[in-house]
Amino acid sequence: MKNVQKEIENKNPWYVDSQHDQLLIYGKRLRERYMLWQEILLKLNFGRSAKVLEVGCGDGVNFKPIADIFEAAGVKFTYCGVDYNPLRIARAKSKYPDGNFFCEDLLEWQNVEDFDFVFCNQVLEHVPNPDSFLLKIRSLMGQNAYLLLGVPNEGCFLAWVRNHVLERSILRTTDHVNFFTKSVVERLSRNSGFDVVVFRRIGFMFPTQRINFFLSNVCWGECVFSFCRKFFPSQSGEIQVLLKKDPEYL
Ligand SMILES: C[S@@+](CC[C@H](N)C(=O)[O-])C[C@H]1O[C@@H](n2cnc3c(N)ncnc32)[C@H](O)[C@@H]1O
Repeated sequence: MKNVQKEIENKNPWYVDSQHDQLLIYGKRLRERYMLWQEILLKLNFGRSAKVLEVGCGDGVNFKPIADIFEAAGVKFTYCGVDYNPLRIARAKSKYPDGNFFCEDLLEWQNVEDFDFVFCNQVLEHVPNPDSFLLKIRSLMGQNAYLLLGVPNEGCFLAWVRNHVLERSILRTTDHVNFFTKSVVERLSRNSGFDVVVFRRIGFMFPTQRINFFLSNVCWGECVFSFCRKFFPSQSGEIQVLLKKDPEYL
């Protein structure tokens, strides 16, 4: 695992660049992600209030979309965000004073309260030991809690072409150590004590970032993404799963 403090001192863009800016590459596709989260969350019954945890919250980029969804559902919520990058947590705290942000490595976080809902988006691909990471998340969840897990579908063929042929710099500049596919996500979830309640794919893994960026920012791009995904679902850009604790898991 890379040393976060050292990477910040070395100004590694992956650790210091604004994640709000990094999200621009997703363009209109971000809307697809948030609409999916909204669709999933509105079907769940939280009652009147919910304790929400975001693991790997970074600069707090998901705070506002999450707040909007809970507000639309009429659910009063408290938000806790955890990330081990102190620079990102400082930014999140100053931009979103309504959230509670903690600078911690999740695996070492000592927390006693149980959460009703956990978001973990685009984090697991960075984590060297995803089983222990998911088990730790599980230990922070109440009995009827849900986990919404989003990962890039980077184990697919087109991502391999991008990473190993067309854009080999990606593997040097990012710190991804896990390359997920549907079966990997499902197996990992089961092995970590979760049942998969909803499985969804979004986006499409065009094998260069330039094509992705272009299509994400033209009005007809979304149609191209869904058309390609319809015919080649295994080559989607992302996988999003809603997980629930498997009560029989010991
Ligand atoms: C690609 S960013 C994702 C940010 C945000 N969740 C999103 O949806 O854009 C991954 C984040 O996970 C954090 N992270 C990775 N491993 C972590 C760990 N063990 N404990 C806490 N945060 C971690 C990184 O610092 C980084 O901010």
